[in-house]
Amino acid sequence: MTDKIVPRGAFTSKFGIVAAAAGSAVGLGNIWRFPYVAGENGGGAFLLIYIGFILTIGMSVMLAEFIIGRRAQKNALGSFKKLAPGKPWWIVGFMGIVAAFVILAFYSTIAGWTFEYLIQAIGNGFAGKDAGAISQMFTDFQTSTTRPLLWQLVFMVLTAGIIVCGVQKGIEKYTKMLMPLLVLLIIIMCIRSLTLPGASEGVNFLFKPDFSKISGKVILEALGQSFFSMSIGMGALITYGSYIQKNNKLPNTTFQVAMADTVIAILAGVMIFPAVFAFNMEPDAGTGLVFQVLPNIFTEMPGGYIFAVMFFLLLSVAALTSTISVLEVVVAYGIEELNLSRKKATIIFTSAIAVLGVFATLSFSELSEFKIFGHTIFGSLDWLSANLLLPLGGVFIVIFLGWVLGKKAIVDEVTNNGQIKMRFLRVFIFILKYIAPVAIVLVFLNAIGVLG
Ligand code: PFF
Repeated sequence: MTDKIVPRGAFTSKFGIVAAAAGSAVGLGNIWRFPYVAGENGGGAFLLIYIGFILTIGMSVMLAEFIIGRRAQKNALGSFKKLAPGKPWWIVGFMGIVAAFVILAFYSTIAGWTFEYLIQAIGNGFAGKDAGAISQMFTDFQTSTTRPLLWQLVFMVLTAGIIVCGVQKGIEKYTKMLMPLLVLLIIIMCIRSLTLPGASEGVNFLFKPDFSKISGKVILEALGQSFFSMSIGMGALITYGSYIQKNNKLPNTTFQVAMADTVIAILAGVMIFPAVFAFNMEPDAGTGLVFQVLPNIFTEMPGGYIFAVMFFLLLSVAALTSTISVLEVVVAYGIEELNLSRKKATIIFTSAIAVLGVFATLSFSELSEFKIFGHTIFGSLDWLSANLLLPLGGVFIVIFLGWVLGKKAIVDEVTNNGQIKMRFLRVFIFILKYIAPVAIVLVFLNAIGVLG
């Protein structure tokens, strides 16, 4: 089943689908966001709750998105319009488009940082520096203006460039080759980090849950991180689902993507935390954590130069395979709902997002004193998307599938019209209809203190 001619864009092979969806899921969320959020929320206990959310709610929302997208064969907003004509469900799709704007605006800031670090790595900029000097280097860069903005712009243009090429030639082609290489490199770095003197403290931090650290806030952060990392709750996987052909086994694809995403987040933790403790750093250093830690690992390993270059190159690519899925949400909407050409939609939306992105980047320099409820603009966008927009989108997605579209549609899609069996069908429907919506709402209310 390769190279079939299909009217809309479509992924042409099974591996292509998994690579594209895993490419979306695996990104800065795993390597930059997971360690920093886990570090701020106590480590082991956070990890445990995070994995619990992925296995239950996360995988269900992911499968739900694939089902909706493949059934409707439309963009995130159009899918709801087509499956529930004349009803206001399209608003859920619209929320997803808003979330895409918000995510891309701040994500491109961090993606820009990876470019800066790639250039530093190429210029051997970490050599001979101790942990203090490496931290200083990060702070100096982060608080400057021109370079972070420039890199952000470069990154946005690259994302747009791939999206203009469309589904097969753009998204599928690039993601297939590069993800496996990134995993290999992370494993090598894990080994180095684990063999540093004093590494065991970091291992304990990540794997020994301290249950006294659990609070409503920690639980919401774990939920938000699971949604962000799996790319769920905003229609990115509805959009990708619409490019999946009818004979693909959606439950298997979901399982593979979720596993890849989780394993890579855990590996990122194993790479970062032993080094954090070995170099006497603090695990709750926030958004700069990985950028301050990773260079120390490189300077401590033979061949560090080449590993550093490859690592930041692949991290940039991982970021890119995620951002293209975010931009595709908005562009697919522009093409199908606003009748724009792919090129026009890409240019218009990329420019609009870039404007918001400038404010996110300047949050670390000129606008660092500007706070909304105690968060910088960057912090607000980050928090708003992961902890509010995505889980809320998730609630509506599962309610839509479980209660509105209903059992027949679900069974048709997960069994490919009765051709294959799905083992956990009942569990899945139960989670969709009852567990996921109630749990997400409770987690949220608990975190904002409504439950006392
Ligand atoms: N999952 C991506 C990551 O972990 O880096 C980020 C992301 C991509 C979030 C696509 C949401 C999305 F729709």
